[in-house]
Amino acid sequence: MKNADFLTGITTSGTPHLGNYVGAIRPAVETSKNKELISYYFLADYHSLIKNHDPKLRKQSALEIAASWIALGLDYDNCVFYRQSDIPEIPELTWILTCLTAKGLMNRAHAYKATVAENEEQGHKESDKGITMGLFSYPVLMAADILMFNARKVPVGKDQVQHLEMTRDIAARFNHVYKKLFVLPEVVVDETSAVLAGLDGRKMSKSYHNYIPLFDTQKRLRKLIMKIKTNSLGPDEPKDPETCTLFSIYKAFASRSETKKMADRYRQGIAWGIMKQELFEYIDEILKAPRKRYEELIKNPSDIDEVLKKGAMKAREFSVPFLEKIRKTIGIQSLG
Ligand code: TRP
Repeated sequence: MKNADFLTGITTSGTPHLGNYVGAIRPAVETSKNKELISYYFLADYHSLIKNHDPKLRKQSALEIAASWIALGLDYDNCVFYRQSDIPEIPELTWILTCLTAKGLMNRAHAYKATVAENEEQGHKESDKGITMGLFSYPVLMAADILMFNARKVPVGKDQVQHLEMTRDIAARFNHVYKKLFVLPEVVVDETSAVLAGLDGRKMSKSYHNYIPLFDTQKRLRKLIMKIKTNSLGPDEPKDPETCTLFSIYKAFASRSETKKMADRYRQGIAWGIMKQELFEYIDEILKAPRKRYEELIKNPSDIDEVLKKGAMKAREFSVPFLEKIRKTIGIQSLG
C-alpha cells in the first residue's frame, strides 16, 4: 500500500446535508475515481467524542455518513474508505505525537481560544470551564490521522487550515528530534467548490440549524426548499440573482449554461414560487437515484460495515508497518 495522495476525515456528528455534498462529498467522489491517485477518506468517530456524548447519535451519524458517501458514488474499491476507530495505530501515534507537541501550540488553537473567550465573556471564574483534554488536544489526533498515512494533500474547509499548520509543526518536530519519517502535508482549500447558503441565507451548517438534509423524503425536500428565505419582490419584478439564496443553491448544482439562463430569467422577473419549484425539481432529479441506494444501504448496515472493514484492512497495510518503523525509531522495540 502506498502513502496517501489525498486524505480527509468527516466527523461523525450529524446528518449529511446539501452543503456537505457540494463542499466535500462531490469533490471527494470525483477524486476517489482517479486511478492515478490514492485517496483516503475516513469517518472521524474519535473526533466526534469531543462534543457528542450520545452513543446512539454517534452510531447513527456514522451510518448515515457512510451510506451517503457510498450512495453518491464513492469508488470505495479504488480509494481507501474506513473508520478511524478501526485503525488502532492512530491513537497510538496520537500519544507519541502528544509527547512532542508544545502545550503553547495547542493554547493557540482557534477552537480552544474561542471557548476560553466565551467563558471569560460570561464572567466564569474558570476560563477553561467545560473544556476537556479531548477538545484541547484535538489537533494532535488530527495530526495523527494525517501523518499515519504520510498524506501529501489534505482537502479541508477554511476553518481547518490552522490544524494543518499544527500538523506540519508537529511532523517537523518529530523529524527533527528523531528521524525524518514524515512528509509535511499540504492543505488544500478548494475555493471553487461551493459554500452553500442555508434556509436563512447564512452558510448551510449543522450549527445554524439551517440545513437541508441530503436524503430526507422527496416531500420533506420540497417543504424545506419552499421555506428558503427570499425578499418580497412581486412575481413579475426583475430580481438580482447574485444576492439570492435560491439562485446560489441552483448554481452549485446546475451547469454553467443553465445557470446563465436562470440568471437571465431572474433579470426578466421570475416568481419565487416558480423558482422554488424548479429548484426542488432540479435537486430532486439529481438525488433521486442516490436516495434509493441510500435507503437500501441504511436498511443493510452490515453491507456498509463490510465496505468499511475492507477499507480498514487496506489502510492498515500501510499503518501497521509504518507504526512499527516509528516505534523502532523512538526506541519502543524488542530488547533483543
Ligand atoms: N477536524 C475535521 C473537521 O472537523 C475532521 C477531521 C478529522 C479531518 N481528522 C481529519 C480532516 C484529518 C482532515 C484530515 O472538519
